[in-house]
Amino acid sequence: MANVAVVGTQWGDEGKGKLVDLYTEGADVIARFQGGNNAGHTLVVKGRKTILHLIPSGILHDNKICIIGNGVVVDPVVLIQEIEELQKGGLFPPHTKLYVSEKAHLIMPYHKRLDMAREASSKGKKIGTTGRGIGPAYEDKAARIGIRVCDLYNESLLRERLQRSLNEKNFLLTGLYSEQPLSADEIAAEYLAYARKIKPYVADTSLILDNAMRAGKKILFEGAQGAHLDIDHGTYPYVTSSNTVAGNAACGSGIGPNVINNIIGICKAYTTRVGEGPFLTELNDEIGDYIQQAGQEFGATTGRKRRCGWLDMVLVRQAVRTSGITALAITKLDVLTGLDKVKICVGYEAADAEFTHAVPADIDLFGQCRPVYEEFPGWKESIPEIRKLEELPANARRYLQRLEELAGVPLNLVSVGPGREETIILSDPFCD
Ligand code: GDP
Ligand code: IMO
Ligand code: MG
Repeated sequence: MANVAVVGTQWGDEGKGKLVDLYTEGADVIARFQGGNNAGHTLVVKGRKTILHLIPSGILHDNKICIIGNGVVVDPVVLIQEIEELQKGGLFPPHTKLYVSEKAHLIMPYHKRLDMAREASSKGKKIGTTGRGIGPAYEDKAARIGIRVCDLYNESLLRERLQRSLNEKNFLLTGLYSEQPLSADEIAAEYLAYARKIKPYVADTSLILDNAMRAGKKILFEGAQGAHLDIDHGTYPYVTSSNTVAGNAACGSGIGPNVINNIIGICKAYTTRVGEGPFLTELNDEIGDYIQQAGQEFGATTGRKRRCGWLDMVLVRQAVRTSGITALAITKLDVLTGLDKVKICVGYEAADAEFTHAVPADIDLFGQCRPVYEEFPGWKESIPEIRKLEELPANARRYLQRLEELAGVPLNLVSVGPGREETIILSDPFCD
């Protein structure tokens, strides 16, 4: 019996949503542990597309427990909207329970305003954030001036903390960004109304997880973003504001690291990035356009066109290291179909012409590296119908074989289309 964490190995949008939905079949509890509604996780079930930003991607299955852990930053507006949309669409199964940690920090209106104002004033130095207030919410958490879900049920404390926060935020909004100030009373009234709506879902989620594990239930931890958007291990400062690596599944959900047995790294068969920052294998040519079109690479949260390029195995190997990945799930292999040649970046040539297998910490040095490629013949056959590895075109198998060698961990699955069933399953992640 194993507990499993699913994490992205690149810059997000690897297909975590599809695979968490798929793996949920074998899980009892599905827990998000970091990030917020900057995430956009797409599920395609029986041709119907659902995009989740905050609620775990296990929600479409009946008889599960879905948890939004303490490490997530929660925008209550989005939480309520997502619950209502699922209910309206008949997608919230009757016996599935949703819980949000009482310790999770809230995204407040001033976080969103500051996120957008900061980006707008950054000119050439934008991060390209999703504008959802993620960074400012985590900043307040670390500065110990954040407001948590449980604070919504202590009105005097809520008002006091709000006023304290707004003294600073209004100074920034009006003085630095020439914006209108916000009113503590208005925000309190708004958030007290949200508090009433979300009350049935608020719980000690660490305890729920512990009880579930003691009862022999299987837990699936759902990462958001990807290893190279990690605040410590990513391409700083072009990162998000949380730890996206698997280690945070423990901190962000209130369990010990020893209970996570298998860590599945999701790896797109090529690379994409939304937002700013160096991207060594980016293709600003017709092949990049082809991949963008064939892969429908538009942000699930902001609708921005995703930047596309060849698979960068330096990034993926580093993700294997920083997350302790035990197996890789490859997604979107079908998107490469039709290309004459496909390339894999196997290392970088640094500015001083030295060959390296690591991502330099200095962002300028990283930007100056040149990718070193291995080239492979492409394949033309359609693959979304294939369910067995040996039935894939020989050139696609060769590509996967080299990818696996470079990763140094086995493949657990190959996804050949967005649908739940468009998948070649190689092993069960819940087996020890
Ligand atoms: P996430 O953020 O990691 O959950 O990924 P997103 O949902 O943002 O982006 C992945 C996109 O690729 C979604 O539109 C998925 O429906 C789609 N997708 C996932 N796996 C596959 C696949 O194997 N082939 C194709 N063509 N699309 C896929
Ligand atoms: P999922 O879970 C891709 C990127 C933003 C920006 C940077 C910081 O769907 O893979 P933030 O709003 O977090 O402060 O933005 O991180 N980013 C993502 N890119 N997928 C995501 O999530 C992302 N979440 C944040 O584009 O570059
Ligand atoms: Mg996404």
